[in-house]
Formats: sequence, C-alpha cells, structure tokens
Amino acid sequence: MKIAVVGAGYVGLVTGACFAELGNDVVCVDIEEDKIKNLNNNIIPIFEPGLEELLIKNRKKGKISFTTDLKKSIKESDIIFICVGTPPKKNGEADLSYVEDVARTIADVMDSYKIIVEKSTVPVETGDKIAKSIKSYNAHKVDFDVVSNPEFLREGSAVNDFMHPDRIVIGCESERAKDIMKKLYSPLKAPIIFTDIKSAEIIKHASNSFLAAKISFINAIASICEAAGADVEKVAEGMGYDKRIGRSFLDAGIGYGGFCFPKDAEAFIRISEKFGYDFSLLKAVQEINNNQRNHFVSKIEKALWIVKGKTIGILGLAFKPNTDDMRFAPSVDIITELQKEGAKIKAYDPKAMEKSKGILKNIEYCSNTYDAAKDADALVIVTEWDEFKEIDMKRIKSLMKHPLIIDGRNIYRLEDMKNDGFTYISIGRKEVH
Ligand code: UGA
Repeated sequence: MKIAVVGAGYVGLVTGACFAELGNDVVCVDIEEDKIKNLNNNIIPIFEPGLEELLIKNRKKGKISFTTDLKKSIKESDIIFICVGTPPKKNGEADLSYVEDVARTIADVMDSYKIIVEKSTVPVETGDKIAKSIKSYNAHKVDFDVVSNPEFLREGSAVNDFMHPDRIVIGCESERAKDIMKKLYSPLKAPIIFTDIKSAEIIKHASNSFLAAKISFINAIASICEAAGADVEKVAEGMGYDKRIGRSFLDAGIGYGGFCFPKDAEAFIRISEKFGYDFSLLKAVQEINNNQRNHFVSKIEKALWIVKGKTIGILGLAFKPNTDDMRFAPSVDIITELQKEGAKIKAYDPKAMEKSKGILKNIEYCSNTYDAAKDADALVIVTEWDEFKEIDMKRIKSLMKHPLIIDGRNIYRLEDMKNDGFTYISIGRKEVH
C-alpha cells in the first residue's frame, strides 16, 4: 500500500520504517528541511535500537523516502498517518495546531479516496474534529475516512514494540476503512481491536495513565517500605505474581519522565475536566511522581550533609535506557537542584550527552563510568543502563573520594554493596553502611 507518514519524530520514523519493512511504499514528510536533508543522507535524528538499520535498508530498496513536500505525498498515498507532535500548551492541554494544519492540507489537495489515520496521542473527539475540518475544506469533494490508530511503542524498544505489539487498536466507523486497515496490519499477527473512534482515543490516554498510576503506586509503597524497614523489590515481586496485577511497571525509582507520561497525564486531567469529571486519582499520581524527585534529592543531601563544594558523579542522563531522549528527564531536575546548592557535577550517559549539552550547563561530561566516579564524593544512578549494572565496583571504590552510591533505580543488590564496602542508598530498601 502507498503510505504517507506526516511527522518524522519518534512515532513517525518508527511507523514509516516498519511499514516499509512490511513491504509498503512509504514517504515520510516533515517541515524541517534539515531533518529531511539528513535523513536523505542516512543521518537519523534520534537514537533508537534497530531504527537506523531499518531506515537505511529500506531507503536503499526504494521502499521509503523522505520529503518536505506534503501536498505531493498526500496525493500519491492511499493512507495518511498523522504523526505530528501534540506538545502541551501552557494550561496542560495538547496543542493540536499541527494536526489541524495537516488536516486542512489533506482536504485541500486530496483528489481520490484517502484514509486519514491519527497516530499522534490526541484528546477524545479529535477524530471528529479532523473529519469535520476535512469535510468543510474538501476541495475536490472526494470520499475519505478518519481512523484512530493509537501507537503504544516505547522509546528504547520502539521497533520491536511496533513489530510485536500486544494489540493493535483501530477506531473506525466505515467498513471500507476497516478492511484496508485490517489488511495493512495483517502481517503483524497481533490481536486487532476494532472500536469507534472516541473509544480508541480514550484507550491511548487510559493506557498511559494506568501505567503512570502503577509507577506512582509502587513509589508510594517504596516510601512506606523505607519508613517501615521493608524492601520494595520483594513487595513488587510478591504483588507481581498475582496475574491480575503483573510485575511490569512496578519498578520503584525516581518517578516517570519522558515526553509521554507527564504530558499525557496532564492532558487527560484537562480532558476529564472538560467533560465535568475531576480526575483526582490521576492528580495524585502526578503529585507522587513530582515528590519522588524531591525525595531523591533529599536523600543525596542527607547522605552528603553539605552539598556545597562536593563533587557528584551522575550515571545516566536520558529519561530511560536505550534512548538519547532528554525530554522531561528526571536528571534535569535532579542536577539543576544539586547545582543550585553548589555541587560540582560530573556526568556520563552512553547516548544522551550530546542532547544533554544543549540543556544542562556547567557539567563536566565524562567519557565513561570510571571518569564520572573519579574524585567524586558521591555517585548517583539516574538511568538504569545495562553497562552500569556491570561496573567493576572495586575500581569504582578506589577512584572515589568516598565510597557512597545513591541509586535512583535500584540496580544493585544490597548484599553485594555491603560486601564491596559501600554506603549504598536506594529507593524503598534498607540503607547499607
Ligand atoms: C510510554 C508507554 O509505555 C508506551 O506504551 C507509549 O506508546 C508511549 O509512552 C507513548 O505514549 O508514546 P515511553 O515513555 O517511551 O513509553 O517509556 P516507558 O518505558 O513507558 O517509561 C516511561 C517512564 O516510566 C520512564 O521514565 C521510566 O523510567 C519510568 N518507569 C517505567 C518507572 O519508573 N518504573 C517502571 O516500572 C516503568
């Protein structure tokens, strides 16, 4: 099938690459000329495992191309995926102006039947608004269908998530569109859930909010464990064996970050308000999440006594492992707070340092973990990259001024840290001295 993917961000590039891999002819469109120029030179703007290989391979085969020409791309495609950004406005609502721009351009130029798919995360009723907008600007008076097909991929495992989804949700209200979407996704062999458009839109916000709630729930339990002298890892394990609960998304830590959960939770609260519902549960989820970072900074302060003049090595800057994404990364708040108090920050991240340089200033960026630990009064784990789990603790101890590790991701075993002679402070577990 001929597909146009509008918006070459995380979702757009992964969607485009994967549909090309499945044998479709894909054109990825973006307004940023530099981004398109780079993509046409095999320079991929984001780090995402497996994405670069897939894009380069399919570009070589002629299955995917990149352009800024939206009008031509619309005309030549059967299905148009809207994957543009829906960033938060000042009041927390999603800014849908990019979505509207694309809808109007589609209406203006389409001269044959098209399926317009909203893949960006949007508030319920956006599908209706897209349809209304296209209908009123429909220059050539042609048939079209709007479909909601939310994306559930996670950064860091996006290609795999796209190719092996738990489910595919398709909200659509015409048999013609339903058949085409079914055919498009048939190679993935995943369950397809057909719903009306509004339900599909709510499925996306409800899923992200539920996952965020799971994280805040376990972080609340972690605080109780700390006070009671229990171990949150054991509690999560014990809860997770219950199939109704499940172990995933019960990792206590420094709270969720990234471009999705914080903005989607906020947007869902605003959407609910508009429908007259006070989503107090989700507000509490947000509050617990915000407190978690402050709580972590307090742990560092308490362990160091005086922060001013101390050298702190930070391991991990990206909001999660296997990505270079720094948007709403907990590292930004944590480092900024420590700098305010006069700490000297050294930091290392396997992939996110370039992006971090544009956001966090006055940091000594290090070339590896050991450099970050050298002469540090404390080593702070912010992102749970695999390589941090395998470091040589004896070497780390010999390099540090003082063997103190404060771990926001619980990546080490308490017994090991005790045996290695560290003061080790983590989340929801006993302190090791
Ligand atoms: C999330 C969802 O998981 C995807 O299904 C969804 O498609 C995506 O948002 C989106 O809406 O685009 P993502 O933000 O890439 O994906 O990453 P997650 O793996 O969900 O992690 C989000 C945050 O939660 C990270 O900061 C992570 O460190 C934190 N987290 C996750 C925890 O603190 N504990 C956990 O147990 C799991």
